[in-house]
Amino acid sequence: MTSTTAKAKSKQKAKKEHTSGDKRFKVLDVTMKRAQNRPDALIEVLHKAQEAFGYLEEEVLIYIARGLKLPLSKVYGVATFYHLFSLKPSGAHTCVVCTGTACYVKGGGEILKALEEKFGVQVGETTPDGEMSLLSARCIGACGIAPAVVFDNSVAAKQTPELAQARVKEWLSEK
Ligand code: FES
Repeated sequence: MTSTTAKAKSKQKAKKEHTSGDKRFKVLDVTMKRAQNRPDALIEVLHKAQEAFGYLEEEVLIYIARGLKLPLSKVYGVATFYHLFSLKPSGAHTCVVCTGTACYVKGGGEILKALEEKFGVQVGETTPDGEMSLLSARCIGACGIAPAVVFDNSVAAKQTPELAQARVKEWLSEK
């Protein structure tokens, strides 16, 4: 391979990767690649996305549409048709607790329970004041810093029930 071809290839690769560096997009890349970016892998990829993000937000749907070369309308259509998929929740803030194996064994389940109890909300729901939606995900690609919780798209490492509760309380007091 000439150096120009190598350069062009790495440029192409960099362009394809999600710019945020969020490892969850890598999980999607792997799933799409495994399915050879076939459009008929859409449901499988949406499943993976929901597992990794806890819900499907617009940015993720756009990423999938590009990856599978499908119109965004088609991706939206499928995501809204099946009840097992949930689109971005309605809370002003979102808190996604990872309950994948690595996080679970290190207390992810207790964090989730503590948040449910403290803020009177079940996983998958939004607090009555609309301030926080609580969700869970199965591995967000950050097992090395387990247990991990994503607060409004920022991944927090080595969480405890107390730390997570304090972070959510901050949101509520910002009002
Ligand atoms: S299991 Fe939580 S990040 Fe992998």
